[in-house]
Amino acid sequence: MRRIAAPAARNLSKVARVMFTADGDEVAARAGASVAAALIAAGRPALGRSPRDGRPRGAFCLMGVCQQCVMRIDGVRRPACMVEARAGMVVESLA
Ligand code: FES
Repeated sequence: MRRIAAPAARNLSKVARVMFTADGDEVAARAGASVAAALIAAGRPALGRSPRDGRPRGAFCLMGVCQQCVMRIDGVRRPACMVEARAGMVVESLA
Protein backbone atom coordinates (compact mmCIF):
# COMPACT_ATOMS: atom_id res chain seq x y z
CA MET A 1 0.00 0.00 0.00
CA ARG A 2 1.33 3.42 -0.94
CA ARG A 3 1.42 6.04 1.79
CA ILE A 4 0.42 9.56 0.95
CA ALA A 5 2.00 12.25 3.09
CA ALA A 6 -0.42 14.68 4.64
CA PRO A 7 0.25 18.30 3.67
CA ALA A 8 1.38 19.08 7.20
CA ALA A 9 3.99 16.31 7.01
CA ARG A 10 5.66 17.67 3.88
CA ASN A 11 8.72 19.86 4.06
CA LEU A 12 7.36 22.95 5.77
CA SER A 13 10.69 24.74 5.62
CA LYS A 14 9.99 25.51 1.95
CA VAL A 15 6.58 27.05 2.65
CA ALA A 16 6.50 30.84 2.61
CA ARG A 17 5.46 32.25 5.95
CA VAL A 18 4.23 35.55 7.28
CA MET A 19 4.28 36.77 10.87
CA PHE A 20 1.51 38.71 12.53
CA THR A 21 0.47 39.59 16.08
CA ALA A 22 -2.56 38.04 17.76
CA ASP A 23 -3.48 39.39 21.21
CA GLY A 24 0.13 40.41 21.68
CA ASP A 25 1.69 37.10 20.60
CA GLU A 26 3.65 36.55 17.39
CA VAL A 27 1.97 33.97 15.12
CA ALA A 28 3.50 32.37 12.03
CA ALA A 29 1.13 31.67 9.15
CA ARG A 30 1.52 29.96 5.81
CA ALA A 31 1.35 32.50 3.03
CA GLY A 32 -2.19 32.61 1.68
CA ALA A 33 -3.82 31.20 4.81
CA SER A 34 -6.71 33.02 6.44
CA VAL A 35 -6.23 34.55 9.88
CA ALA A 36 -8.61 31.95 11.36
CA ALA A 37 -6.75 29.05 9.73
CA ALA A 38 -3.42 30.43 10.91
CA LEU A 39 -4.63 30.77 14.50
CA ILE A 40 -6.14 27.29 14.52
CA ALA A 41 -2.91 25.85 13.06
CA ALA A 42 -0.98 27.68 15.77
CA GLY A 43 -3.03 25.93 18.45
CA ARG A 44 -5.34 28.86 19.21
CA PRO A 45 -8.82 27.62 18.27
CA ALA A 46 -10.60 30.10 20.57
CA LEU A 47 -10.90 33.23 18.44
CA GLY A 48 -13.07 35.16 20.87
CA ARG A 49 -15.59 34.87 23.69
CA SER A 50 -19.34 34.69 23.69
CA PRO A 51 -20.83 38.05 24.67
CA ARG A 52 -23.63 36.20 26.45
CA ASP A 53 -21.76 33.84 28.76
CA GLY A 54 -18.06 34.48 28.10
CA ARG A 55 -17.33 30.97 26.87
CA PRO A 56 -14.60 30.56 24.23
CA ARG A 57 -15.86 30.89 20.69
CA GLY A 58 -14.19 29.30 17.67
CA ALA A 59 -14.68 29.22 13.93
CA PHE A 60 -17.71 27.30 12.70
CA CYS A 61 -18.37 27.65 8.97
CA LEU A 62 -14.99 28.99 7.77
CA MET A 63 -16.70 30.60 4.81
CA GLY A 64 -17.87 33.97 6.10
CA VAL A 65 -21.46 33.09 6.96
CA CYS A 66 -21.77 32.45 10.70
CA GLN A 67 -19.69 35.39 12.03
CA GLN A 68 -18.41 33.21 14.91
CA CYS A 69 -14.84 34.19 14.06
CA VAL A 70 -15.19 37.98 14.05
CA MET A 71 -12.04 39.63 15.37
CA ARG A 72 -10.57 43.12 15.30
CA ILE A 73 -8.04 43.02 12.47
CA ASP A 74 -5.94 46.15 12.07
CA GLY A 75 -8.63 48.00 14.01
CA VAL A 76 -11.61 46.78 11.98
CA ARG A 77 -14.13 44.07 13.00
CA ARG A 78 -13.94 41.39 10.33
CA PRO A 79 -14.53 37.63 10.06
CA ALA A 80 -11.08 36.09 10.53
CA CYS A 81 -11.86 33.26 8.13
CA MET A 82 -12.25 35.72 5.25
CA VAL A 83 -9.08 37.74 5.78
CA GLU A 84 -5.74 36.58 4.44
CA ALA A 85 -2.96 36.68 7.01
CA ARG A 86 -0.42 39.33 6.10
CA ALA A 87 2.90 40.25 7.63
CA GLY A 88 2.67 42.79 10.41
CA MET A 89 -1.10 42.77 10.83
CA VAL A 90 -2.48 43.19 14.34
CA VAL A 91 -5.30 40.84 15.36
CA GLU A 92 -7.29 41.14 18.57
CA SER A 93 -9.97 38.90 20.07
CA LEU A 94 -13.27 40.50 20.93
CA ALA A 95 -14.47 40.13 24.51
S1 FES B 1 -16.15 30.85 10.81
FE1 FES B 1 -18.10 31.44 10.10
S2 FES B 1 -17.79 33.46 9.39
FE2 FES B 1 -15.82 32.79 9.95
